Amino acid sequence: MNKPLGVITRGTTNPNRLRRVDRFIAALPVLRQEKQPIVVDLGFGASPITAVELLARLEKVNPQTHVVGVEIDRERVERGLAIATESLHFTHGGFEVPIPPELPNQVTVIRAFNVLRQYDEDQVLPAWQKMQSRLTVEGKLIEGTCDEIGRISSWITLDRVRPLTFTISMRLAELDSPSKVAERLPKALIHHNVPGEKIHQFLVDLDRAWQSNAGLGTFSAAQRWLAACNQLKSAGWPITLDRKRVRLGELSVEYSAVDPTN
Ligand SMILES: C[S@@+](CC[C@H](N)C(=O)[O-])C[C@H]1O[C@@H](n2cnc3c(N)ncnc32)[C@H](O)[C@@H]1O
Repeated sequence: MNKPLGVITRGTTNPNRLRRVDRFIAALPVLRQEKQPIVVDLGFGASPITAVELLARLEKVNPQTHVVGVEIDRERVERGLAIATESLHFTHGGFEVPIPPELPNQVTVIRAFNVLRQYDEDQVLPAWQKMQSRLTVEGKLIEGTCDEIGRISSWITLDRVRPLTFTISMRLAELDSPSKVAERLPKALIHHNVPGEKIHQFLVDLDRAWQSNAGLGTFSAAQRWLAACNQLKSAGWPITLDRKRVRLGELSVEYSAVDPTN
């Protein structure tokens, strides 16, 4: 067998820290469209808890879902195998995304969270490409990061060909400035949060929109966020305005609008 692609990194994880991205994945149309979705938790970490939670959330949407936890550290895989079930699988591997032989080989969703954060930026593109090549036609790769307890999170959604959107999801209560997400940007963006770069301008404009709608905060933080998102959209940022998602503290913008490479 070939050596897994990637390196073992710190295994820090926490129960429930990935709830925001899990909610986003649960709402992806592909999860309902595919008969038996195969969803990979790539780099699940020192405990398999986030894989367990991912399955629990996705089974509510499609009971035929299978989750496969993939880890490059063999000992962590063993911890997963100890709690495996018919629909929760664990295997040793890396960005090549191996799937146990009893399952269809192509993957509906890959969630790679807090994994590339510990790599160098120039390793992002080859890792993306490897993972993208494992997706079904409508499949999605969700690659991002979050803080220790999952109150601040951001991720990039890619299909087999290109990055599609950049999403921020934050706890809105007591939020001073949304640019706090700067500490938790995906590796492809985090080093570009400097004046003159698109991601920097996006966060500056987002902060300004949040501040200028401060008055609405007396009604609810969600209303304030919605108004800020509307303002950004009116200013020309290509934002997806799905009210239901916005109310959750989420905001998605076309990746091309923040892409540092073009
Ligand atoms: C910080 S933990 C993240 C745990 C969990 N995903 C979370 O967000 O809470 C990162 C894990 O990714 C694993 N990892 C790093 N590179 C990997 C790769 N190429 N393939 C699979 N796992 C990888 C590490 O061994 C580590 O356990």
